Amino acid sequence: MMLEVSDLHVYYGAIHALQGISLQVGEGEIVTLIGANGAGKSTTLRALSGLIRPRAGKVVFRNEDITRKPAHEIVKLGLVQAPEGRRIFANLTVAENLEMGAYTRSDRKEIEASRERVFRSFPRLKERYHQMAGTLSGGEQQMLAIGRALMSRPTMLLLDEPSMGLSPILVDEIFAIIQEINQQGTTVLLVEQNAYMALSIAHRAYVLETGRIVLSGTAQELREHPQVRAAYLGDVAEVQEAG
Ligand SMILES: Nc1ncnc2c1ncn2[C@@H]1O[C@H](COP(=O)(O)OP(=O)(O)OP(=O)(O)O)[C@@H](O)[C@H]1O
Ligand SMILES: [Mg+2]
Repeated sequence: MMLEVSDLHVYYGAIHALQGISLQVGEGEIVTLIGANGAGKSTTLRALSGLIRPRAGKVVFRNEDITRKPAHEIVKLGLVQAPEGRRIFANLTVAENLEMGAYTRSDRKEIEASRERVFRSFPRLKERYHQMAGTLSGGEQQMLAIGRALMSRPTMLLLDEPSMGLSPILVDEIFAIIQEINQQGTTVLLVEQNAYMALSIAHRAYVLETGRIVLSGTAQELREHPQVRAAYLGDVAEVQEAG
């Protein structure tokens, strides 16, 4: 396993946001974490990236205990989160934002190769290279956020709702690109409210409810699971049958 999370507990003051999360991500997989608002999806990613400190539990990435490592060291090890939503640097250009993503690296030739790879995935970013990031459309900012994460050449990419706020056509485009990034060798942990799309590209999935994993399985198993169909796939027939 590339990532092994065991019995992770996170508190925000008195709020017990993660109540013993355990999950695994294997090399080369796309694993998705689905769940309703407030379930703890973003909290899980924040704990993995070292942005918040778990009170208990363990995170092992490529055989190294990273539970208490600072965020910048975790990035250097290759576990990289694309900025949540569209938290790019609005007052910097597309070019400068991408450069920021490569801050842990020094080989200019390799950085250039990564930039070309980002442009192959997101040709639109190349067209807007010198534009201020804050003036990009929402979808373009989302692409820049993912592009910036790719500039650090992650072994494993953490994505927090990459489809949020995008038009259906762009949602399809973003998910196709995530799949392509994965096929080129990057392992992906994908947090999504769009369970339908997430389960269509993932290999395996976990369902999170109020800080606990309540279901897990292959993406196909979960797509066919009555509880998932009713609660996350908007399957009206199942809801009527159940109720
Ligand atoms: N900084 C914070 N301080 C206090 N409580 C927080 C903080 N951040 C998150 N929480 C709480 O922790 C719980 C989990 O939040 P989290 O953001 O992880 O949910 P989520 O699954 O990502 O939801 P969404 O789908 O709405 O993004 C929620 O009840 C939330 O109110
Ligand atoms: Mg969230």
